[in-house]
Amino acid sequence: TPALQPLSAAKLTIEKTADPKPLKEPHELVFGHTFTDHMLAIEWNSETGWDAPKITPYQNLSLDPATCVFHYGFECFEGMKAYKDANGDTRIFRGDRNMSRFNNSATRIALPTFDGEELLKAIAEFVKVDDRWVPRGQGYSLYLRPTLIGTQKTLGIGPTSSALLYVIASPVGPYYPTGFKAVSLWATTDKVRAWPGGFGNAKLGANYAPCVAPQVAAAQKGYHQNLWLFGEENYVTEVGTMNCFTAWVNEDGVKELITAPTTDGTILEGVTRDSVLDLARERLVPQGWAVSEKKYTMDQIKKAADEGRLLEMFGTGTAATCAPIKRVHYKGEDISVPLQPGKEAGPVAEQMQKWIMDIQYGVEEHKGWARHV
Ligand code: COI
Repeated sequence: TPALQPLSAAKLTIEKTADPKPLKEPHELVFGHTFTDHMLAIEWNSETGWDAPKITPYQNLSLDPATCVFHYGFECFEGMKAYKDANGDTRIFRGDRNMSRFNNSATRIALPTFDGEELLKAIAEFVKVDDRWVPRGQGYSLYLRPTLIGTQKTLGIGPTSSALLYVIASPVGPYYPTGFKAVSLWATTDKVRAWPGGFGNAKLGANYAPCVAPQVAAAQKGYHQNLWLFGEENYVTEVGTMNCFTAWVNEDGVKELITAPTTDGTILEGVTRDSVLDLARERLVPQGWAVSEKKYTMDQIKKAADEGRLLEMFGTGTAATCAPIKRVHYKGEDISVPLQPGKEAGPVAEQMQKWIMDIQYGVEEHKGWARHV
């Protein structure tokens, strides 16, 4: 863990907008298109450290064209959500996990670290100020986007002497316009997302732009998303911008939920990934399931499918929670992934989606994961 630089939520100032925007109707919400009235911003420089957090009206940034974020990719971000529970209270889901990952990402690109608990307090204040923007109803939430950029104005490459941390918020509905609907995947075999010792485990903007061309290529072939593989073995790594889970009856005849391990730097430490693993260990293992964080290959999936042992596959992420998979194109062939009859998900994805949403919306309390703001 990196040494954290002091940041104090107690110094927070609030300047409210004189011109609040009209709210959108839930059905009008397209992921990441609408933003709330305010933003949270905290400046940093190498001499004085973190400045006082400020909540201000949502506004443009003004940056010199030489600013290092534009040239060398000094940017990392987080994705987290606030939910309205049945009492009308607002809860943030597992924000502590986002804060520690944010610090790890910042460290990877030599941006300053911060006290995550203090940032979370400031974010909670921001969510309170924009509380009318937290949509009600299952599937709806306020998506929070903490962002950290290097702001030094020089083309010289080195650690930045100034930075800006800001948080914007976007009311969102279901990530896929189709809702909880199974997606088809094209396994990308000519490009990799991440490599051991690289930075695929960090939530850097630099990991996302290169994902778009392969996703467009998959879409042109009629598939919803691409599946990322790694190495000659064709290890299954991630799906689009999500972690990937596979359920199968393994070679020992045991039902197993498997996902790639986060030990070599190729896999993002997803908060939903961690939540699925936690709930699977608590609730599926007693039913005889094995739960594994282990490398596995596309050929193993194909073999399992051929032998009728493939049970289901799904992606996990904050944006979509669980995204069931119905088909994977791999080396010229479509591998069918089972779904429940008449349904768009397998039983594990469906159950996980419900367990996680019940915790997010406060229907169930679990390990303090959904914290009141
Ligand atoms: C996810 O939550 O699954 C993401 O990767 C966020 C995406 C909008 C970048």
